[in-house]
Amino acid sequence: MLQWTGDRVLAKTGKPLDSLQRAILEGTLQGQKYPEIAKNSNVSHDYVKKVGSKLWKLLSDVLEEDIKIAQSNVRSILEKIEFSNNSHNVQICNGNINVWGENLHSPAKRRSPSAGRDNSDKVDRERCHDLRDAPELNWSCDRPQALATLKEWIIEKNTRLVTLLGLSGIGKTALAVQLVQLLQDNYDYIIWRSLENSPTRSDLQTNLMQFFSQQQATKFLSPLDYVRSHPCLIILDDVQQILASRELAGEYQPGYEDYGTFFKQVTEFPHKSCLLLLSWEKPRDIATLEAAQGKCRSFQLQGLGASGREICKERGLTDPDKWLELIHLYSGNPLWLNIVATMIIELFNGSVAEFLSCPTLCLGDVEPLLQKHCQRLSESEKQVMFWLASQEVAVEISSPPETIPLSPDDFFTAVHSLRRRCLIDKVAANGRSGFTLQPVIKEYVKHQSWARSN
Ligand SMILES: Nc1ncnc2c1ncn2[C@@H]1O[C@H](COP(=O)(O)OP(=O)(O)OP(=O)(O)O)[C@@H](O)[C@H]1O
Ligand SMILES: [Mg+2]
Repeated sequence: MLQWTGDRVLAKTGKPLDSLQRAILEGTLQGQKYPEIAKNSNVSHDYVKKVGSKLWKLLSDVLEEDIKIAQSNVRSILEKIEFSNNSHNVQICNGNINVWGENLHSPAKRRSPSAGRDNSDKVDRERCHDLRDAPELNWSCDRPQALATLKEWIIEKNTRLVTLLGLSGIGKTALAVQLVQLLQDNYDYIIWRSLENSPTRSDLQTNLMQFFSQQQATKFLSPLDYVRSHPCLIILDDVQQILASRELAGEYQPGYEDYGTFFKQVTEFPHKSCLLLLSWEKPRDIATLEAAQGKCRSFQLQGLGASGREICKERGLTDPDKWLELIHLYSGNPLWLNIVATMIIELFNGSVAEFLSCPTLCLGDVEPLLQKHCQRLSESEKQVMFWLASQEVAVEISSPPETIPLSPDDFFTAVHSLRRRCLIDKVAANGRSGFTLQPVIKEYVKHQSWARSN
């Protein structure tokens, strides 16, 4: 029912339901009240009430049914919308909704090579869309620009390999989940896999083949055969887990180099599929493939900007005139903002002004996240990070500073590598490029023993 309603909203408005809207709808369908939904979603009761009332208005418009007292009647209204096979092609059966019409396109039904006419669309979708590894995340802050660019690259420009880059917590996974919702009708197969446990390429290949072939005999020998013969969307999350630590960015761990061959084949063979990689750092081959042709692109996800105010609102913080300052200080990273919001609630009863009046930038639970990034650095990168942490403003890198005992070549290579890890920012200063660290990263590096020993 949730999926069906989400599809209707997407079809009518071009925008998927966000995670809180889905949580409210799902909770309501299960008979939960707002306080319980708020607790489960980790947001304030008031906020759920506000989002809820807008949601019922949206659903009333989309479903052309009056859903006013939603908490009591949403289930019955959804169940009432029982269309005949001929006119609307929707059947509701024990709370499951099967759709097989032209008005609500299901790719699996329209184009799936394996779609048997006697099976329901729901079954096909389950068979051809495997999103079990995709986490359910909150994405209340809109990122329309990022979504539009990625959609254009993937659909209009037929980019075969897209890498979504960004620090931990910036929202890569949340954005990719939205992207999948937006693009799902363009693909016969959609599969999401996390490389969190560092599977070898051969393990991943076996896993993908099990999904594609559905344990049936097939003439296809590898996932690449499916990618070339059907539109497929494959999402590989946590790609940094197959990359090496304490070396320059993007080097594969020993034994994982053949992932590079897979990425190269996906980029170079002609097809209508897309491989979407989510990573903290850009794998070495991707940089080379980007240079060679327009079928491979990378997108570095930036912080939330003003839309991050939604997180402050959701979490019930006070002093709205200070929210932008807070967002800027924590670089619009939604995870960092959520962590700091918890700290502000626990220590200052939600007062952002009081928190900001503290003399030092407080890292709290953001620190272990930064540690994970910094323990991946090579020695030369650590030297550059320490130097940048001691600079008040963005600096040019036309030559290495005297304090860094690196050759110009090693210095530039280290800066370049840090850029590929999204750890340093490039800003325009007097028409030239300056480099700097985000405030939180600067604060973290300043207090590291490895930095002090440099
Ligand atoms: N647009 C958004 N609006 C509100 N919250 C968001 C948004 N995007 C992400 N978040 C929240 O921020 C947190 C981190 O998001 P996410 O897991 O997508 O980051 P990530 O970049 O994939 O991090 P990692 O690299 O560690 O996997 C999650 O709790 C998520 O709910
Ligand atoms: Mg992620």
